[in-house]
Amino acid sequence: MGKNEMKIFSCNSNRTLAEDIARRLGMNLASSEVTKFKDEEIAVRLNESVRGVDVFIVQSTCKPANNNLMELILMVDAAKRASASSITAVMPYFGYARQDRKVEPRVPISAKVVANLIQASGISRLLTMDLHADQIQGFFDVPVDNLFASPLVIDYIKSMNITDMTIVSPDSGGVDRARFIAKRLDAGLAIIDKRRPKANVCEVMNVIGEVSGRNCVMIDDIVDTGGSISGGAKALKEFGAKDVYCIATHPVLSGNAFDNLGKAGFREIIFSDTIPVDESKKLDNMTILPTAPLFAEAIKRIFNGESVSSLFI
Ligand code: R5P
Repeated sequence: MGKNEMKIFSCNSNRTLAEDIARRLGMNLASSEVTKFKDEEIAVRLNESVRGVDVFIVQSTCKPANNNLMELILMVDAAKRASASSITAVMPYFGYARQDRKVEPRVPISAKVVANLIQASGISRLLTMDLHADQIQGFFDVPVDNLFASPLVIDYIKSMNITDMTIVSPDSGGVDRARFIAKRLDAGLAIIDKRRPKANVCEVMNVIGEVSGRNCVMIDDIVDTGGSISGGAKALKEFGAKDVYCIATHPVLSGNAFDNLGKAGFREIIFSDTIPVDESKKLDNMTILPTAPLFAEAIKRIFNGESVSSLFI
């Protein structure tokens, strides 16, 4: 890469972020059309040549996940058949990642199936952020750069000047992320002992660590129905926490999420823009952190054949 021209295309899931990334690279999005036929089949066309070009396609596979996935793989195929030199799928949010292993007999490993589909469509590389499970990188045989939102999160928390702060992981799976951030901020660490009896239902069993009289910042990768984070906030209050904050990279926000978050009594709710949040539903205490600076820098380095590892702090 690097000797060619670079073009950034966007599918439909998060055009605002794609435009922000392109702007930060001093470019406009390349022209394409992603529409639907009358029977809902997706129709994709690249409106400019990509012959010999390093192509970057921005698409989060958030709701509607299946449509968004299909848009992405069709656009990758279009770029491949139009002789692109390389194709990087830029997936700020990688959907299906929570189905990353067989949790019971006779179920698929859906994240692997999705990885197969994306790879078979013809990508040369995947650039994503806060993959729910690191091992999904191994589901691909092409390079995967998994950026962390933590630099953005750490800078934002610093700007809030929170005293007596404890970083809280809402479940055991998020402990590494919470510990890393707590260490950077010289804050305490607590863990919520969560049980998930079935999909989209969670029960808080216990809080491990000192939270009484502390300002608690809960950090998760995903807020979906808001059940985990709201249940966690309730438990923290019961254990004597002062203010409780919610920070998550991917605002999936399905089902009763807005209602759950609104009722949970968070001092502030902070998401990134890997998935767009419906403006009309946005709560007054919600802040959205832009991820375009990180994606733009990573794309620039990938294009120039430079190391991106210093972005993984
Ligand atoms: C689970 O392991 C994830 O990290 C999130 O905690 C989970 O997906 C959030 O889902 P919900 O908001 O529906 O509880």
